[in-house]
Amino acid sequence: MFQHLDPYAGDPILSLNEAFQKDPRADKVNLSIGIYFDEQGRIPVLDSVRQAEAQMLAEGGTKSYLPIEGSAAMRGAVQGLLFGPGHEALASGRVATLQTVGSSGGLKVGADFIQRWLPGSAVWVSDPTWDNHRAMFEGAGLQVHTYPYYDAGDASASPPRQGGGLRFDAMLATLRTLPARSVVLLHACCHNPTGVDLSPAQWQALVPVLRERDLLPYLDLAYQGYGDGIEADAHAVRLLADSGMTFFVANSFSKSMSVYGERAGALSVVCADAAEATLVLGQMKATVRRNYSSPGLHAAGIVSRVLTDATLRPQWEAEVAAMRERIAKMRRQLHDLLAARRPGDDFSYFLSQRGMFSYTGLSPAQVDRLRDEFGVYLVRSGRMCVAGLNSGNVERTAAAMSAVLGTA
Ligand code: LMR
Repeated sequence: MFQHLDPYAGDPILSLNEAFQKDPRADKVNLSIGIYFDEQGRIPVLDSVRQAEAQMLAEGGTKSYLPIEGSAAMRGAVQGLLFGPGHEALASGRVATLQTVGSSGGLKVGADFIQRWLPGSAVWVSDPTWDNHRAMFEGAGLQVHTYPYYDAGDASASPPRQGGGLRFDAMLATLRTLPARSVVLLHACCHNPTGVDLSPAQWQALVPVLRERDLLPYLDLAYQGYGDGIEADAHAVRLLADSGMTFFVANSFSKSMSVYGERAGALSVVCADAAEATLVLGQMKATVRRNYSSPGLHAAGIVSRVLTDATLRPQWEAEVAAMRERIAKMRRQLHDLLAARRPGDDFSYFLSQRGMFSYTGLSPAQVDRLRDEFGVYLVRSGRMCVAGLNSGNVERTAAAMSAVLGTA
């Protein structure tokens, strides 16, 4: 029956993480998957999350199904987190929010909805973007194209031109050519894989272009709190909501609450008015029912409690700040170690890039050498998850990187 199947080539990120787990070397370093590891190299369970779970256990409660759109408490809490409590878009009821199975679940439900209700709209993603974006939207039957984003520099120019920034003018120029109702996927903060974000002024300049061309922004907010802070990282969401545009935002708690396996996320669609939001929520529910019926109860309990409890909320905010600050410290340490080893090279990108990831510019061959010779795992695009560094592995990482940098 299935002998004709193509073998699965594996996922570029998840397969690497599996290979890392199987690697017998004791001093291996996992800088591949986007997971925050603490100073001891463990995935932390936040105290705020543990306490929320203890409350849930103590209260008992049922294990009934959630509604298709998820828990009302979680959906309301997510709206406050994203838009700020009392935002006009919330007060006027024009935001349709569903709890989803991680933000991946939200992205896919949104993609299915677009394919059904805006057929013919193509999706435009940044070059580069998270490996799975293209697969997800194409999987929903949509065409996917890229807009210019990351400036990789030009090694063949004389003298070689260092990249590392954003091709903002080229990005705007491309967006100005798109047909109305094209979907533009944007990373709200902590761009994956480059760590290069739009500045607030660039977001401000982007919004009129999106509006004039009647484009449909689709924000992916997977790293809220890892850039400049929980509120600051919602900047793009609030700017678009203030503009009155219709847009999507898929957000995740995997990283911000360190609850990866709970699959806690949401999808919000900001509409023109409450009547449109009701229609959108209805068709989103139909999409979910056909896919996985309803999201998980435990995820909803954790997120709604942590976001709304007067004790847990500030505790969580402090825990997010500590994770963000530890990453910044590791960025600085790796930068300083590399700068000392290779004074001729520019490693300032480690300091300017935001969030979990840095784009190192290492070639696939150099990444392979790092893994094979030194047990240091990066994604083959050269993406490093700096949140996997700690004071016990940063020197090894700098030494290994410095060794391979001398090679092609
Ligand atoms: C990543 O980019 O490494 C994370 O978002 C995990 C994933 O699912 O790819």
